[in-house]
Amino acid sequence: MTKIFISCALPYANGPCHLGHIRSTYLPADIYARYNRMIGNDVLLVCATDEHGTPIAVKADKENKKPIEIAKRYHDLIVKDVESMNISLDNFTRTTDEIHYEIAQNFFKDLYDEGLIYRQDLEQLYCPNCNKFLPDRYVEGLCPVCGSEARGDHCEKCGRALDPTELDEPHCITCGTTPIIKDTYQYAFKLSEFEDDLKDYIANNENLPANVRNYAMNWLEDGLNDWTLTRDMDWGIPVPLEEAKGKVLYVWIEAFLGYISSAAQWSRKTGNKWEEYWNDFVVHFIGKDIIYHHSIFWPGLLKAHDCKLPDMIYAGEFLSLEGEKMSTSKNWVIWIADFVKDFEPDLLRYFLTINAPLNKDSDFSWDDFQRRNNDELADVIGNFLHRTFTFTRKFFDSKVPEYKNPSEEDEEFRKAIQELPDAVGEYITNFEFREGLLEIFKVAKKGNKYFNDCEPWKAVKEDMQKAANCLHLSNQLAKTLAYVLKPYLPTKADEIAKIINLNNLDDWEDAKVPLPEGYEINKAKPLFKKIDDDVIDEEKKKLKENLNENEDENMSDLISIDDFDEVVIKIGQVLEAEKIEKSDKLLKLQVDIGEEKPRQIVAGLAKFYSPEELVDRKVCVVANLQPAKLFGTLSEGMILATGESGALLSPDENAEIGERIQ
Ligand code: 2FM
Ligand code: ZN
Repeated sequence: MTKIFISCALPYANGPCHLGHIRSTYLPADIYARYNRMIGNDVLLVCATDEHGTPIAVKADKENKKPIEIAKRYHDLIVKDVESMNISLDNFTRTTDEIHYEIAQNFFKDLYDEGLIYRQDLEQLYCPNCNKFLPDRYVEGLCPVCGSEARGDHCEKCGRALDPTELDEPHCITCGTTPIIKDTYQYAFKLSEFEDDLKDYIANNENLPANVRNYAMNWLEDGLNDWTLTRDMDWGIPVPLEEAKGKVLYVWIEAFLGYISSAAQWSRKTGNKWEEYWNDFVVHFIGKDIIYHHSIFWPGLLKAHDCKLPDMIYAGEFLSLEGEKMSTSKNWVIWIADFVKDFEPDLLRYFLTINAPLNKDSDFSWDDFQRRNNDELADVIGNFLHRTFTFTRKFFDSKVPEYKNPSEEDEEFRKAIQELPDAVGEYITNFEFREGLLEIFKVAKKGNKYFNDCEPWKAVKEDMQKAANCLHLSNQLAKTLAYVLKPYLPTKADEIAKIINLNNLDDWEDAKVPLPEGYEINKAKPLFKKIDDDVIDEEKKKLKENLNENEDENMSDLISIDDFDEVVIKIGQVLEAEKIEKSDKLLKLQVDIGEEKPRQIVAGLAKFYSPEELVDRKVCVVANLQPAKLFGTLSEGMILATGESGALLSPDENAEIGERIQ
């Protein structure tokens, strides 16, 4: 018996799960876990929500909420999504859980004490308008490697992990300002010291699939830099060092430790030792976009900590939707919660598994989903099971008939049934989940053909033993299908088991034990139904409408009159103007906008106007902008001017000071 530690990549708690999450990570992990439990391996399947880092902090900023409120909201939704898809997790926790803080801080501290983490003086991007450093997703720009639009920490297009200072044309995602580079210090991990170990790990680990190995090897060829493990941010796990006040751990170092803390939480609950699983066999299921992190950073950290490295990293490739890249911002996405409102989860599990191998990109389209459901699940698997059960009831009093004097065809079919569990098992062991399901489908198809060829409806009148053999073997296949389908379609498998009066489907070996003659089965209802065209048309319509709705809200360049109304622009007059020391762009102005006191406004006009030129000028002022500090100077508004030439927007002379533009 092997003890197997299986993890699913931790979803960020900044949105619910969509089809892509399930396809790349949770479903394959679940199939693998369920099968291994059935063959008697001891499995620990863990996950958690990834609740720190800029993805959640940025969303919280946008919604004017605390990051923990955002994290809690999505944690709860993700739990429901994962449960609704029947992902058989042994533990699902949160990276804001106390045990996770403890484990992450201790891990960092251990490496620091070993001298493998060191203080590093460096320059980082800083937004002079928002007055803060811009770690990771607080900044966007162009990927220096492939030129695509990228976030500060990661290019989705080429998969490269990035440092924000590497971005071309960076801008602050909060206010759009081009950041400046500012001195600070962080703590870095001596990743470069582990380059040879990592090369060895990647090159000599035969388990690693080609996509992981090739990506990792390419990156390793470029050489490794040390890796900055801390950030200047409020939201995160505090760096456990006295002298590092205000700094937090980078979300990626602690997210990996979420695998361990989820397992450790499970250990506390159950009294079992998670380490025994880790030390036996570790499999990480991840999406293709985070291969770099899992094949380089994580094994590097583990090596430094003298831990065993993962035995297997399985990376699911991308899922597109109706031929287009999925996009949560455009709402070009199908959320799990919406899907399971209309369809049984097993139908999706079937489609996502059979449509393409995990190591190839796949596409979800409503037409394909309907076709596979109707032509494969309903017409082949469902039809075979239904005719077997109804015939047994009608002609054999619901009892498995005797198998006697078999024909060559009978024996050939019997052999195919017997060989099925081993064939499927071998595929699943080798992470070839689609091939396993195809094999099941193939034998079910054979079952239908055999049934047709036997013509038991005729045979019951002409050759009763022929009909008996046919129904005997068909019931054997039905039983085998219940077992081999269990990892893939757990609910449907249980429904089959119920009809066949099987108590459970816990032991894979039992799949090979034939049902005895005279064994009684129950009355059956059809297990798989066809999906009508109008249902699919409705889904397609919804998808389009969601996209449009979202476009109206977020994607269009047009704003509503209410949006405009939120910006208060007033006529002002510059009373005083002076240069700001050490800045060749900024001027400090005192502007009368008809209030009791003049407003102090810092404006980027120094390159276009001397202070004297501005005094007495009438200007347009955004009066309800949040105050900010620029170069240490308070700014309580914004003067309207064009970007390139700095030309001021000046009202006609008859405009009154304090008058609102509307
Ligand atoms: O890319 C992501 O969605 C990350 N939240 C994955 C973290 S996986 C691991 F490190 F835990
Ligand atoms: Zn900014």
